[in-house]
Amino acid sequence: MMGYRQLSFPHGTRFLVTGGAGFIGSNIAEALLTMGYMVRILDDFSTGLRENVLPLMQIKGLELIEGSIVDFEVCRLACSGIDYVLHQAAWGSVPRSIKMPLHYDTVNVHGTLNMMQAALEAKVKKFVYASSSSVYGNEATLPKVEGREGMPLSPYAITKTTNELYAKNYYDIYGLQTVGLRYFNVFGRRQDPHSTYAAVIPLFVRELLADRSPVIHGDGTQSRDFTYIDNAIEANLRACLAAEVACGQAFNIAYGQCTSIYELYFTLCRLLNKKLEPIYGPIRAGDIPHSLADISKARTLLGYTPEFDFAQGLEATIEWYVARAAGLA
Ligand SMILES: NC(=O)c1ccc[n+]([C@@H]2O[C@H](COP(=O)([O-])OP(=O)(O)OC[C@H]3O[C@@H](n4cnc5c(N)ncnc54)[C@H](O)[C@@H]3O)[C@@H](O)[C@H]2O)c1
Repeated sequence: MMGYRQLSFPHGTRFLVTGGAGFIGSNIAEALLTMGYMVRILDDFSTGLRENVLPLMQIKGLELIEGSIVDFEVCRLACSGIDYVLHQAAWGSVPRSIKMPLHYDTVNVHGTLNMMQAALEAKVKKFVYASSSSVYGNEATLPKVEGREGMPLSPYAITKTTNELYAKNYYDIYGLQTVGLRYFNVFGRRQDPHSTYAAVIPLFVRELLADRSPVIHGDGTQSRDFTYIDNAIEANLRACLAAEVACGQAFNIAYGQCTSIYELYFTLCRLLNKKLEPIYGPIRAGDIPHSLADISKARTLLGYTPEFDFAQGLEATIEWYVARAAGLA
């Protein structure tokens, strides 16, 4: 059997999900709560949404701390009594990081360091954290394989690379069991379509549902390894359960299939029954032309077996956005 639902932890296991008001964090928190575990969320709602947390309040076992990972005392409080930390809090978006590098350093680097130190002091079992495919930078070889990274192309990518360096140090020097997950373009329910820095799938869906033509940066041939949210949830749970050999390391978390932006656009048009020509715009700074992951390391060391391919994930996602637009989700 594949997926995360067959995974289990001892009764009463306590998880901390930082960034739990965000897209990935709220989905992880919901999955764990639904499985009957206790979940504490730490979020400052700087980019996350209250509407992501509200439905989780209806499920037993949720505790919410509103605060910032930049504040070490808040991190300490959040880690107390916790078995597993699933650290998702960060500022995302490559273009935004180019506009505000100092802020990205403060939140993504210093905040993550605070979290590692607090998790170490609280003697948590594992510290699983969100890294990113952006750490591959200017390394053009496909598929992307762990151990063959290039130079980071943006402040955002530098923050994720730095997180990985600290996480390896925290394992090697202090024994904190860290596992890094290099997400590749995660998509699915609750991904925010309204931010100026929205990811490509929610952005295209938002524009198409409003009968507007989305902008494709470049000629649309650039490609991504789009990863459905349930696969990312599975990776987090498996990372918690992984043997110690996985610690101090980072893993590609993707499906292992690439889709061009052009193909994505026309699949969305078909699923949403729209006939609109896209607008083509300039290539964005910091963007990479292609991204495709080799996921064999995560398969071998974490037992990661992604359940949903791009097409299955996209259909489920569209259903959710359409229901939401109709006020049903
Ligand atoms: N979505 C993707 O495709 C993707 C790809 C690669 C990596 N990632 C990483 O995965 C993680 C989650 O991404 P997401 O897409 O859910 O982003 P998101 O913006 O939806 O969620 C991030 C959450 O972190 C919170 N946050 C930000 N600064 C904080 C602070 N100082 N203190 C406490 N909380 C804070 C935000 O309020 C938000 O709720 C991030 O670390 C991101 O860099 C995401």
